[in-house]
Amino acid sequence: MAVAYYHAAEAQKLNIIPEPVEATKGNGIYQLGKKITIANNGASDELVNNIANELQIATLKEVRTGKNNAAIVFSIIQEETIGKEGYYVEVNQKGIQIKANTNAGLFYGWQTVKQLMPAAIYSNKNNPDLVWSLPYVKIMDKPRFGWRGLMLDVSRHFFSKADVKVFIDDMARYKYNRFHWHLTDDQGWRIEIKSLPKLTEVGAWRPLRKGKWMNTTTPAVTEPKTYGGFYTQEDIKEIVAYAKSKYIEVIPEVDIPGHSMAMNTAYPQLSTTPNYPYQVNVGEEFMDWEGINGHATAKIDNSLDPSNELVYQYLDQIFGEIAPLFPYEYIHMGGDENAKNNWEKSANVQALMKKEGLKNQNEVQSYFVRRVQKIINSKGKKMIGWDEILEGGLSGDAAVMSWRGIEGGINAAKQGHKVVMSPNGYNYLDFYQGELTAEGKVYAGLRMKKTYSFEPIPEGIDSNLILGNQGNQWTEQLQTMRNVQYMTWPRALAIAETSWSPKSKKNWPIFVEKVEGQFEKLAAANVKYALSMYDPIVTTQLNTKGEFIVYMEGEIDGLKIYFSMDDSMPDNFSDEYTKPFVLPEDLAVLRVISYRNGKPLGKMLSIPVESLKQRAIKVL
Ligand code: ACM
Repeated sequence: MAVAYYHAAEAQKLNIIPEPVEATKGNGIYQLGKKITIANNGASDELVNNIANELQIATLKEVRTGKNNAAIVFSIIQEETIGKEGYYVEVNQKGIQIKANTNAGLFYGWQTVKQLMPAAIYSNKNNPDLVWSLPYVKIMDKPRFGWRGLMLDVSRHFFSKADVKVFIDDMARYKYNRFHWHLTDDQGWRIEIKSLPKLTEVGAWRPLRKGKWMNTTTPAVTEPKTYGGFYTQEDIKEIVAYAKSKYIEVIPEVDIPGHSMAMNTAYPQLSTTPNYPYQVNVGEEFMDWEGINGHATAKIDNSLDPSNELVYQYLDQIFGEIAPLFPYEYIHMGGDENAKNNWEKSANVQALMKKEGLKNQNEVQSYFVRRVQKIINSKGKKMIGWDEILEGGLSGDAAVMSWRGIEGGINAAKQGHKVVMSPNGYNYLDFYQGELTAEGKVYAGLRMKKTYSFEPIPEGIDSNLILGNQGNQWTEQLQTMRNVQYMTWPRALAIAETSWSPKSKKNWPIFVEKVEGQFEKLAAANVKYALSMYDPIVTTQLNTKGEFIVYMEGEIDGLKIYFSMDDSMPDNFSDEYTKPFVLPEDLAVLRVISYRNGKPLGKMLSIPVESLKQRAIKVL
């Protein structure tokens, strides 16, 4: 029987994120029978067994492998156009066929198939009474970028092995393939180094604080250090293997020479202030970001001493133990936000400058980076670092992760270095995602619409040098994996689509519909996600008459915005926002809510007048 297929808009109703390269929907439905047979033509047994297991749990059907009457067929093929990670999926009256050159490709094909199934496929509960069906489709798909990353900071708050596995599970559903693990920072050293035991005995622990970050009380030296944790080398191997089973490579980060307070607490002799009574930072402010002439200054020295040979000896031991634990080719050495005010004051650093002919602190940093690069290369790995590693000169095959916008990425690519884009203005998942007064307080805000608009290949740059795209989840304000999930999803869906899908296939209104389709899948997978895209964007302008003008708009199309200024709770019978208005003199609080089709969406916003005034853009 011939099957008709529909193109374009119809196919996007398939609700697949990231959007496939080509997808056509047929006019039939395939239903899984009482028994599910899976045929394996060349795929790894581990992959097929994992999938059989997933299906068995969700459907409670009898799932077995075999050749005859197979409902699902996995085939390894040889076909250049789809590359190493691409796949073909076809669903028709015969069942589900997934073909790829590699097991990774088959895995991505399976992720696509799951998105076509009932959301319960993501559940770890049995759903025997469901009709397990999916639409006829024909899909050809392959990723735009080879590096599709998410970073998790486990230093600012520690996340257990089980939590990290959850983070990896969440990534895998959307075809992410690089897990960047930020393992060290001022607030904790999280990886066992057997030859330097104090790194975790001392550096992994601090007194517990529940308050707001950078507004916490400084602990007394005697306060018990009960909060923290670290991963043993066995734990690391377990996580790396777990990620590998989901075709995710793990990139460990040891953030040096700055961000090293935990390391300096363990071994104060590594700093230029060895007599300082170091403690692992609990979240209290110690950095003046504005500093002197715009250069950040550290009130407590959180840098390693670049003139001390012991530093390089210890780093050689550290990277020597780390390199064999992580099979992937890159190790991340951080390199960001290193305050140099303590280096400037150090006689030893000055002597180093004289000896090595280093003209300024950037060149000192560059000297440090070159030494670290040599160590990392000596362990058979390539180095990657934040874009500050370009300052003062970068050499060899080092790659750059561009976070202060895309400029670092552009400069790096112009010098021939490979680049991963993770600009803070688009890809920082710790920034609040909706109305400022209704979300946890952080340094900056970032709406998903802006995240979605990111284009990783800058104009005029050789696209071969752009390895890919990455979202970063810093955890200063995030103490639990539930909260990490809330900040990550759905914005990481936007990053996933930018990282995988052809540029020409991106479309914001369709993406929003697909995100709404993913909510029930995320819920089935027990993922906490934000509904912030339903919150109206409320801005103000201060005009020349000294009046504050209020503007409201939806982040997504199709919302009606209602508000009150009399302290009442607005609904769809309240004033509807249709045009900008002057903030009344005596207003205390503006309450706002969005509706669609007569139903409230998202949160009720209660915005104090002070906040409305603070956010005003001055119009002269
Ligand atoms: C960074 O956000 N400091 C890399």
